[in-house]
Amino acid sequence: MHYPSAGDGKDVGPTEILDENDTREGWEVAHLPGVGPYALDSFRIFHRDMLRGLAKDWEGTGAPPGFEPEWKRVVPSDKELKAYIRWIWLKEGYIWDPSSGRKVAASAKRMRQKAERTKSLSATITCKISFLRPLNMEERRKLYGKYPSLRKLEELGDAYVEWNDGREPALLRWLYDHASFPQMRNNPRVICDAMDEHAAQHNFLINIGPDKAEKVAALISENKPKIFVELGGYVGYSALWFGCSLKNAHKDSTSDGDQAVYWSLEADPVFAGIAMNLVDLAGLGDVVKIVTGKAAESLTRLKEEGKFAKVDMLFLDHIEDLYVTDLKVVESLGLLKKGSIVVADNVLRPGAPEYKKYVEQHPSMETRAIKGLIIPGEFEDEIEVTEYKG
Ligand SMILES: C[S@@+](CC[C@H](N)C(=O)[O-])C[C@H]1O[C@@H](n2cnc3c(N)ncnc32)[C@H](O)[C@@H]1O
Repeated sequence: MHYPSAGDGKDVGPTEILDENDTREGWEVAHLPGVGPYALDSFRIFHRDMLRGLAKDWEGTGAPPGFEPEWKRVVPSDKELKAYIRWIWLKEGYIWDPSSGRKVAASAKRMRQKAERTKSLSATITCKISFLRPLNMEERRKLYGKYPSLRKLEELGDAYVEWNDGREPALLRWLYDHASFPQMRNNPRVICDAMDEHAAQHNFLINIGPDKAEKVAALISENKPKIFVELGGYVGYSALWFGCSLKNAHKDSTSDGDQAVYWSLEADPVFAGIAMNLVDLAGLGDVVKIVTGKAAESLTRLKEEGKFAKVDMLFLDHIEDLYVTDLKVVESLGLLKKGSIVVADNVLRPGAPEYKKYVEQHPSMETRAIKGLIIPGEFEDEIEVTEYKG
């Protein structure tokens, strides 16, 4: 009754059974107790065509040509279902209006722009969207309750942009307006915690996140590297976290000759600028050096300038497709020594199979994977930890 619009179903008597050709509103499961609009919309989207034997699945598989799946007629009121329908219409090439159910073809230019914009981003994006696909509505509800920022990922689907859309300068302003700002000065962990809060509540950030960061920090405490080089610094989250770990690992050291340094190489000058600001705020200027430019070029220049001759720990976190190429640059510059550790993030998600193969088959390398979680989202990932045997 009253579904999908007020008054619908009023013309159907209490014991009446509608046949297939009846034009009045009636739904196969509407008589079941507790069935409201959300359940009816979900039933229509995901099950009705199968129940009626019209298709093998809700997307119309096995149906005759010209068949219109039921989901295309649903205009749900629930915001999760709205987001979902909007996303699947977008995949069909339409911009769908959730308030009216009307749709307009997305112009070729707009689709091209979306495709190009999406393509230019790291594979992480597509991969993260695909995390959501196997989740059912209940799981999504829980996920969004804990990490509201992820809702955008599903709402915008393939059009979702997860970095370099103005969120990084906005993050910096947000940090400076944060209630905990007074505690941030000289306190990298308070800044990282606030960044985690921002990533979970407002806008996803493509940094390593707290779960995997703890694991890399443990490697730093254990191995006590003096020269740490990171490829892909973004806005400084890992530089703050690991720079702090590096400082702590050497806090009892008495030698003042060769101080521990965290070199963070970042290609984008705006991100590098934000990272410099946060390093200063965190009071880590004596340990962390942010270097702007493409990693391969910066590595070559820093070596030539004598800034370092060897690297104790290398952290690959820029573009998975560049992991092998840039590790080869490091090798050809002679920067690895016996005992150097190479850590690579996102080896499982989005995945770096070529890199994994390269380090596994390398005659001078011993490698293992450590499990970790992408936060926000708690999606499983792995960091690859490789020791150079010389
Ligand atoms: C996943 S983010 C790094 C996250 C950061 N390590 C953290 O956990 O806070 C990847 C970064 O690599 C940068 N990048 C991409 N290609 C690069 C290159 N060739 N050299 C240096 N940085 C690069 C991107 O601009 C982006 O900021």
